[in-house]
Amino acid sequence: MSLVKLIDLSSFSDDRGGFVVIESGQTISFEVKRLYYIFNTSGNKPRGFHAHIDLKQIAICVNGSCRFILDDGLQREEVILNSPTKGLMIERLTWREMHDFSEDCVLLVLASSHYDETDYIRNYDEFLRVVKNDAR
Ligand code: TYD
Repeated sequence: MSLVKLIDLSSFSDDRGGFVVIESGQTISFEVKRLYYIFNTSGNKPRGFHAHIDLKQIAICVNGSCRFILDDGLQREEVILNSPTKGLMIERLTWREMHDFSEDCVLLVLASSHYDETDYIRNYDEFLRVVKNDAR
């Protein structure tokens, strides 16, 4: 099964411009507790390089583009996000890296929990160990 799950966001664009709506628990499967966005990015400064024990997220490139690498410990896939109407679902225990940010990139992330540093796995070998022992 593909790691890359792109959600088509409801859009009502017309001659006045673009419009996207996201409803917590409806458009997306989890309740959104937090959102953040990344901007003023640089193409040669990748980000991410971590996984989460429990957190689920959806990433939307609302402007510009960037390249995501997703890795579940068994397979590694990549996808270019370049549309404000597509959301990338990032499940728990998924290693993610973000590369090749365009200068105008604005990356919005919706998250299922509040910020919790103890939910992060920042070491790739530790990530592989956790995946191997995961009972869920
Ligand atoms: P970081 O994990 O480096 O971001 P990325 O995944 O894009 O590489 O986060 C940047 C900083 O922001 C870091 O000091 C932690 C802090 N932070 C919060 O305070 N709250 C949050 O919700 C997030 C995601 C990060």
